[in-house]
Amino acid sequence: MAERERLICAAGDLAEQGKGVRFELERHGRSQPAFVIRFDDMPRAFLNQCGHVPVELDWQEGEFFDVSRHYLICTTHGALYHPATGACVGGRCAGRGLIPLPVVERNGHVYLLEPALMENQ
Ligand code: FES
Repeated sequence: MAERERLICAAGDLAEQGKGVRFELERHGRSQPAFVIRFDDMPRAFLNQCGHVPVELDWQEGEFFDVSRHYLICTTHGALYHPATGACVGGRCAGRGLIPLPVVERNGHVYLLEPALMENQ
């Protein structure tokens, strides 16, 4: 299957452990919110859906890191996720991590890899 890539943002839009970029994707026949951040100099993307209750993580648009900038945080009840994998590392997510999405950085841009996304559905 040929890979389809969808442009998400410019690579320069993502500072290390800085503000994220929100985007939408089609999943299970409907539009769902997602986001991408930069961690360990790589873009990392996830569905914007907490493992505790399926609400979006950010109250202030694009702010996904906690005050330490080491973890992603759900602002509703404070669940913490590892920014490299989306694994739950504390709080009410109780072992239920974020759903990762495949992204690649190339030629100064960040792309979502759509066939791999379909396999995760
Ligand atoms: S909804 Fe995210 S921690 Fe409760």
